[in-house]
Amino acid sequence: MAQRTVQEYGAFARDIGQILYTEEQIQQRVRELGVQISADYEGKNPLLVGVLKGVLFFMADLLRAMTIPLEVDFIAVSSFSPQTRQQGYVRMIKDLDIPIGGRHVIFVEDVIDTGLTLNYILRTLRVHKPASLEVCTLFDKPAKRLIDAPVKYKGFDLPDQYVVGYGLDYREKYRNLPFVGLLAAHAFKDAAQEERSG
Ligand code: IMP
Ligand code: MG
Repeated sequence: MAQRTVQEYGAFARDIGQILYTEEQIQQRVRELGVQISADYEGKNPLLVGVLKGVLFFMADLLRAMTIPLEVDFIAVSSFSPQTRQQGYVRMIKDLDIPIGGRHVIFVEDVIDTGLTLNYILRTLRVHKPASLEVCTLFDKPAKRLIDAPVKYKGFDLPDQYVVGYGLDYREKYRNLPFVGLLAAHAFKDAAQEERSG
């Protein structure tokens, strides 16, 4: 399939200041991860667990790049308190459907930044005593790490800047872009303005 270009997205894509990873680069790296994980988990029927919604495309592409039997499940968390909007507060808003006790679990993340979300989720998963638990993240932002993140599989490093696309949002927008880029300064400003007037 031909690569989609920024131009095809019209005005919407002018909000992207710079593309960091193209669709082709992302697809290539995700395929490599799929091959590697398939080899490591041969005969283990792994359970891949993702957090909605940012991991949507990464999970879908990773699953299709894997060549062994596996299962998938999703959880959802809220990363700030609805009352105080305090950062670092993590709350589970959708739990697992599949029991993970005794299973080989691979926790799949879109981005690890401070590591607080990951830490909370790993602690929660460990309570159920999986046979093994490893972390696979598409993006890693090591600059602001507050707590150790035991990452086994990693797609790419990111600078300490806010990125959107390939599932990642800014105020729920831009998830559908097939590439990952920096949001232009005007897009942050427009969103703030919209929030004040709307
Ligand atoms: P942490 O708890 O600071 O590691 O935050 C991780 C979560 O914040 C990720 O799972 C994302 O949902 C979100 N996040 C962090 N950086 C970005 C970004 O650049 N774009 C979109 N979401 C991000
Ligand atoms: Mg996330």
